[in-house]
Amino acid sequence: MRLDLAGKTVLVTGAASGIGLACARAFLAEGARVGALDRASSGDVGPDVLEVRADVTDESSVAAAVEAVAGKFGGIDVVVGCAGIQGPVGAPIAETSASEFGEVLAVNVTGQFLVVKHAAPRLTAAGGAVVLLASDSAFTSAPGMVPYCASKGAVVALTRALSVDLPGVRVNCVCPSVVDTPMARADLGAVLDAPEFPVQAASEVAHQVLFLASSLSRTVNGQAVLADFGVSARSGFPA
Ligand SMILES: NC(=O)c1ccc[n+]([C@@H]2O[C@H](COP(=O)([O-])OP(=O)(O)OC[C@H]3O[C@@H](n4cnc5c(N)ncnc54)[C@H](O)[C@@H]3O)[C@@H](O)[C@H]2O)c1
Repeated sequence: MRLDLAGKTVLVTGAASGIGLACARAFLAEGARVGALDRASSGDVGPDVLEVRADVTDESSVAAAVEAVAGKFGGIDVVVGCAGIQGPVGAPIAETSASEFGEVLAVNVTGQFLVVKHAAPRLTAAGGAVVLLASDSAFTSAPGMVPYCASKGAVVALTRALSVDLPGVRVNCVCPSVVDTPMARADLGAVLDAPEFPVQAASEVAHQVLFLASSLSRTVNGQAVLADFGVSARSGFPA
């Protein structure tokens, strides 16, 4: 199956770690050129990568980063929004401040909006695609996850709205359950290594992202792809 991503320019946010890093590597393996946007350093970057340091909540630095990538590679075909934070996971709502709640929404929602907003003219010119990282937390929750779940639910709605607002640009999101990344390790630690706990690899999420970024999924638009091993499909019915 050919993805036909060779020569495409892909802007990946959150590219210094976890799922974003896995996506950057997977696009490079397909022959794409990658703009790796992160507030942290992406480390060792090759000739087909332009590292751009930016905070996705800072509109002027996002605009400059988008122009740097488009200027270097001659446009932008795909945006992959992976930059995100978990916020105060585990804290009850009574101990969660409005500023903590707002910080999670600023990165996870406003950050996605800003990157797509500034890349939109390039994406429209290219007939491109956007893939945003939401989460199964858009649909299901555990105690102590109010800010994160609210932000991921908003990313699903943002995805659908953007798909309507940007004619000619496909916009979808992926909603994985727990992925073995530094973010998940920080929250869950050794729980990730328990054999009965279903955990996916960042490279598996990247496979879904590449499919949604490629013309093979040209009929898929405004959708949230939930990848949770089927856990959310199971009824509470005692059978
Ligand atoms: N790990 C999981 O279990 C899981 C599951 C579902 C969805 N997700 C989502 O996938 C995305 C990637 O998560 P991950 O697990 O790879 O996390 P991660 O912490 O390994 O990587 C996140 C990256 O985002 C960058 N980042 C954070 N805030 C930023 C900002 N303001 N500006 C620019 N860069 C910023 C960080 O520097 C980091 O490199 C997130 O949106 C996360 O919510 C993760």
